[in-house]
Amino acid sequence: VTTPEHRVLRLGPEEAWLALEAVRTVKRPAAGPDLGVDGIRQFLSRPSNVLIVAVEADQPIGFLLAYLLDRVDRDQPMACLYEIDVLESHRRQGAGRAMVDALKAVCTQAAATKIWAITHRSNAAAVGLYRTTGAVAAPEGDDVVFVYD
Ligand SMILES: CC(C)(COP(=O)(O)OP(=O)(O)OC[C@H]1O[C@@H](n2cnc3c(N)ncnc32)[C@H](O)[C@@H]1OP(=O)(O)O)[C@@H](O)C(=O)NCCC(=O)NCCS
Repeated sequence: VTTPEHRVLRLGPEEAWLALEAVRTVKRPAAGPDLGVDGIRQFLSRPSNVLIVAVEADQPIGFLLAYLLDRVDRDQPMACLYEIDVLESHRRQGAGRAMVDALKAVCTQAAATKIWAITHRSNAAAVGLYRTTGAVAAPEGDDVVFVYD
């Protein structure tokens, strides 16, 4: 996917350095050391790990992490869109939408049955992005997400 401003690509093990750069500059930092280039290369060599970045002028400006999950009841995976981030300076320029589109293409190729994503109703940007790219929120009410930290 290419626009005049940015291009979006799914990274493989040969793009480990770009992946590491994206993790270090775009992703909200986790506590503790990151994987390093060898660790990221290994991460990217697993076909179920989907890391998509948006790049502008050779610099990563967006980051999407998803996982293809095997199902026990049918021979088709489903996907969890685990995290998506765009640098504040580059928001509302279509990078988020382009990365979601790229994830959809990965899922179509893998014959995935669905993508699910969890966010807060109060996160207007995430809710807006997921809605405009075709996701439907579970009706308010009975669904609840528990997190074990
Ligand atoms: C959510 C996020 C990834 C969106 O990225 P983005 O590149 O700005 O999104 P896009 O420019 O592709 O926007 C696509 C559409 O999503 C919706 N949208 C995006 N940001 C929005 C906002 N702040 N408020 C309402 N709708 C919004 C709009 O419909 C937008 O289309 P439009 O610009 O034509 O109106 C970005 O805001 C972000 O990194 N937020 C912080 C991290 C986060 O909360 N991630 C999600 C939870 S893990």
